[in-house]
Amino acid sequence: MGQLPTIDEYLRVKNKLLRWVRPTGDITRWTVKQIRSHLKNPDSSCPDFVTRFLQARDKYPEIMNEEQLEEYANTNVSAGSDTTAIILRSLVYEILVHPDAYTRFMAEIKATLKARPQDEHYDDPIRWSEGLKMPFFQACIKECLRYHPALGQLIPRDVPEGGVEIAGKLLPEGTVVGCNAWTIHRDKDLYGEDADEWRPDRWLDKDVEQVRRMENLSFAFGGGSRLCIGKNIAMLELTKFITEFFRRYEVELVDPKRWKLRPGWLVVQTGLDVRLNPRDPQSLLE
Ligand code: HEM
Repeated sequence: MGQLPTIDEYLRVKNKLLRWVRPTGDITRWTVKQIRSHLKNPDSSCPDFVTRFLQARDKYPEIMNEEQLEEYANTNVSAGSDTTAIILRSLVYEILVHPDAYTRFMAEIKATLKARPQDEHYDDPIRWSEGLKMPFFQACIKECLRYHPALGQLIPRDVPEGGVEIAGKLLPEGTVVGCNAWTIHRDKDLYGEDADEWRPDRWLDKDVEQVRRMENLSFAFGGGSRLCIGKNIAMLELTKFITEFFRRYEVELVDPKRWKLRPGWLVVQTGLDVRLNPRDPQSLLE
């Protein structure tokens, strides 16, 4: 059986093709701009991926050249944009179609703002540390990652030297095996009879062993040595964006029936049409 590419290889080939078709595509233009700005200010007080790539280029010139620098930066943008957008969309939709979840989530935002010391600027964005102390909202994020994984296909791995026994079957080395998060995440043995329902409370269950098991087997970011390198950034983006979005706007879904999923390598949704009304900033302090 031919070997399937890793996501990293897939994205690199995709980026190369994209650059060929659209040599000055938005992503490439943007990443080149970031690289140039890093080159102008190499001693950033806030090192990011590009800073690390530049350090790697200086340290390992035989592995990392100019072209790879650009490719890696592009890969990060490709790998981190649609995936994050899918989970953001899923969060907005599920919170809106579950009025009880909406009420509990907004109550956590209110409590977070009210808990701020008097002298702290009310208008400051909700911080990562504050978002982490919103248990129901964190459960909503985990549930969206479970219920609607961004990747819709198998994530391939090669069986290593010596082969491996999986579920009583011996697979010889070099065999390509893989799991699909959509299958794992709907496993009733693991998530219970209601695995097909969106129910954030499963992550707040008193049975800590069961919650740990679900967390360990969560496959939304893949697993093992090729686990998504942007996982922590993604969790930060999801936490900060969604809290600010609902804090600043009253959000109303135009028509839940418009929501559709397009299965593929990425399971992209359409139909999340909403009406936005800016919220009175004081209303959340009452
Ligand atoms: C909610 C958002 C995200 C989801 C659901 C997601 C999901 C995934 C998955 C499933 C993989 C495959 C892992 C595997 O093969 O086991 C992956 C790999 C990767 N992700 Fe993410 N990702 C997200 C955000 C990001 C962000 C923000 C970045 C960059 C800043 C990023 C960069 C990458 C890269 C570079 C890889 C390839 C890693 C490798 O092959 O070693 N991802 N991601």
